[in-house]
Amino acid sequence: MTPLRRQADRRRTTVLRREAVLATVPVAVAALLAAAGPAAAGTTGSSGVGDPYFPLQGNGGYHVRHYGLTLRYDTASRHLDGTAVLSARATQKLTRFDLDLKGLKVTRLTVDGTTADFRRDGQELVVTPRRALHEGQDFCVEVTYHGTPKPVTDPDGSPDGWIPTDDGAFVAGEPQGAMTWFPANSHPKEKSSYDFRITVPQGRTAVANGVLLGQRTAHGQTTYRWRQTAPMAAYLATATIGKFKVERYTTRDGIQVYNAVDPREANAAAPVLKKLPSVLEWESRLFGPYPYRAAGSIVDRAPDVGFALETQTRPVYDSAPDLSTLVHENAHQWFGDSVSLTTWKDIWLNEGFATYAEWLYQEQHGGDSAQKTFDKLYATRASDDLWAYPPGNPGSGANIFGTPVYARGAMALHELRKAVGDQAFFRILRAWAAEHRGGHGTTAQFVQLSERESGKQLDGLFRTWLYTQGKPGTA
Ligand code: ARG
Ligand code: ZN
Repeated sequence: MTPLRRQADRRRTTVLRREAVLATVPVAVAALLAAAGPAAAGTTGSSGVGDPYFPLQGNGGYHVRHYGLTLRYDTASRHLDGTAVLSARATQKLTRFDLDLKGLKVTRLTVDGTTADFRRDGQELVVTPRRALHEGQDFCVEVTYHGTPKPVTDPDGSPDGWIPTDDGAFVAGEPQGAMTWFPANSHPKEKSSYDFRITVPQGRTAVANGVLLGQRTAHGQTTYRWRQTAPMAAYLATATIGKFKVERYTTRDGIQVYNAVDPREANAAAPVLKKLPSVLEWESRLFGPYPYRAAGSIVDRAPDVGFALETQTRPVYDSAPDLSTLVHENAHQWFGDSVSLTTWKDIWLNEGFATYAEWLYQEQHGGDSAQKTFDKLYATRASDDLWAYPPGNPGSGANIFGTPVYARGAMALHELRKAVGDQAFFRILRAWAAEHRGGHGTTAQFVQLSERESGKQLDGLFRTWLYTQGKPGTA
């Protein structure tokens, strides 16, 4: 240590000590209050789950096991009436907890059947139950609400959530749109089962996740009942509404397919949707069994949206998808939907994998080899957007859907494949999907699993491709 440095340190210490003296009085008061009040910090559920990119997403202190959503949407006035019943369990003592809900008016809120106090604070719906919930307690929250849902604008400028269309609504929630249409613990760390009961004017179809339990028309209104029993993150829920042509069938593997297509997109969509069973079979051979009982597609005409989303069991497309997009969104059923993120920073585990599935599909269906796709990307200049930030550390919510996450994320997987060989590589993908099925996975766990399955040390490879700034050099 240089003398200069030591002097600076001493100066800092002095300043700190002086501040400590000044702070003594308030600290003592706070300590007294903490000791006296049972309602002190530690019994309120936090306003977020601690995601650095979306700090208010999700809520601490409880886990939602099941959502029962009853919705009525008037496509003409764009008015939504909703009741959400959340079956939850407290993970700590709770005198207060939050839900995520943006916009809409809450008219009634009960906890275990008793009305509870609530207030709105931005996207937080702050609930104070009449009696504190104890750690481990099962409880039920019922929220009655209505209004005109409005999409939020994501940090990357995309609309997100309940997005009105000329004949209904395109409903997609990644990363933060779920809160625009139902109150939730809305972070991918949290997965739950869902029941939907959606009423729309006769002639419109409401499509959600999972299997269709039934539909009934009375007095000019049709109610659709959907059920998703497999765990699902809130951002993957949909309730897309429109005038749709519906096609239903069961695949050879017993998967129930439900396709809903805007008639204006039907001609363009037909040849691609026809391939869905063979795409799912191909993906099942590569990644292991399809994780759900239901599958399908929602092909809407939503010109303002600009993206598709891997809504669980049934991706939603803003227009007729091309085959690559169909492959991509269905690959997410394994990577992103079944195996979920614990933090948005790990988004390459979703987008890198789904993009690499597109490369593999091309390679095995008469198109470019994955190596050729890699080489073309690698040939771009170091100043290209592709190298703007590393996929394993995009830096902010504005970057999670950028080219480095998709393309360089897929390049990282291709490097892995070259390093371990095809046999080990596909074993890794299948083990990843199987071991984390219905749950979560982190990048660190993926690296560990890759090393275990291949018997190779891979930290250098992942450091280079996932975490190092700028275009990696060739080995
Ligand atoms: N996960 C979607 C995909 O399949 C992209 C979602 C983009 N969302 C957004 N708000 N920009 O790649
Ligand atoms: Zn994707």
